[in-house]
Parts: sequence; C-alpha cells; structure tokens
Amino acid sequence: MMSRTLLLLITLAVIPGAMAGQENPDLDARVQKFLDEHRRSWRDANVPMSDGQALYDIIVEKGYKQALEIGTSTGHSAIWLAWALSKTGGKLITIEIDEGRYREAVRNFEEAGLRDYIDARLADAHELVPALSGPFDFIFLDADKEWYSQYFRDALPKLTVGGCFTAHNVSDRTSGRRGRGRGMRGTDEFVELLKSTPNMETQFITTGGGLSVSYKSSGL
Ligand SMILES: C[S@@+](CC[C@H](N)C(=O)[O-])C[C@H]1O[C@@H](n2cnc3c(N)ncnc32)[C@H](O)[C@@H]1O
Repeated sequence: MMSRTLLLLITLAVIPGAMAGQENPDLDARVQKFLDEHRRSWRDANVPMSDGQALYDIIVEKGYKQALEIGTSTGHSAIWLAWALSKTGGKLITIEIDEGRYREAVRNFEEAGLRDYIDARLADAHELVPALSGPFDFIFLDADKEWYSQYFRDALPKLTVGGCFTAHNVSDRTSGRRGRGRGMRGTDEFVELLKSTPNMETQFITTGGGLSVSYKSSGL
C-alpha cells in the first residue's frame, strides 16, 4: 500500500500551489464580504469580476508567488491577485501614478484584509518597471495602453521561464485592424509584438474586458 508520505509528495508534485497551499477561512470570508459589498461600486476603469476571477485562477493553478501589476487604480484587480497570492504564499507589487486612486486602493486593501500581501507603489510605471529587479512569475498589465509594448519589453527579461504575462483590454480581433505603423492603437501594436515573440505562447480570453495570457516557454 502507498505510504502517506509518498501520497503527499505526489500531491505536491501534481498541484504546484499545494506546497504553500495556505488555508485561511477568516481571510477568505473577509475578502468575499469585501468583494460582495463593493460589487457594484467599481468606477475607476476597474476590471470586471470575471477578469478578476480569471487572473485569480491562473495564479492559484500555477502556484505563482512573485507578482507585478502595472495600473492599480482603486484596487479591484489587485484584490483578486493578492487573494490568490494569499493561497500560494506570494506577494504583489502594484503600481499607480494617480495619488487619489493609490490612496483609495490602499484603504481597500486594508478593508479586504490583504494589506500584508501587497506592496503598493505610488509611482510612474514608465520609470519604475525598468528599475524593478524582479524576478516575477506573474505580471498583469492594465495601465496606459500606448505604452503596452514598452512595458512588455521592459518586463519580459524579469519574467521567469514558465511565468505568465497577462494584459487587459486586449483582443486578437483588434490586431492589425488599422495596419502597421502610424495610427495603430497601442494594444494592436502590443498584440503584434506578443505574436512575434517566439518564446511567448499566447491565448486570449474574450469574455469580460479582454485578456491576453502569455506563458514564457524559454529564456532565449
Ligand atoms: C484601467 S486602470 C487600472 C484598473 C485596475 N487594474 C483595476 O482593475 O482595479 C489604469 C490605471 O493605470 C494608471 N496609470 C496610467 N499610466 C500610468 C503610469 N505611467 N504609471 C502608473 N500608473 C499609470 C491610471 O492612473 C489608472 O488608474
């Protein structure tokens, strides 16, 4: 008969997040209450709940721990990311340039009970992203669209092999609509860049606000 230790080792190998799998029913109840109460009050270009849930699922399924978000706003997506990281034993760095939004986000993180899982930075991500040392195994991009390609170029070397780069308001249907060059919207150019980056394997989630989900297959 298989020993308990062997069974545990097999479980840990099959479920990447299981090693850190941290049960915290009190925290879960607090976050759930926060999300339920705020469900209809997100008004600062925040992600819809379905996208928050999709990001949460990726982090928990893969067991990611070192996460970066570009574009906090008032913190809806960061709440989902940090909740997932509370399961994997990870932490989120999130960046916002607008002081009012940053302050409201920090209040939300406290109310949701997730403050310890979030390093919230009030900064211009154009400058901070290149300066961060990383590494990150999960990145969520949701800031100024014209800069998406540059954020991707700056962040990709800091993404671990097997890591995941996600971006919001992105769809492959928009890609190339206006052709290359002048007039091409930031996210269109970004989708072209994603598709032409050989070590990134990309899927698109078309429900919600549109998400690209790209996994890094090698260091190149
Ligand atoms: C779409 S909202 C983010 C929504 C957020 N992810 C959520 O779901 O709650 C984009 C945010 O990016 C911020 N932003 C724009 N340019 C930025 C920059 N250069 N550095 C940091 N934040 C920036 C904006 O102030 C805005 O709050």
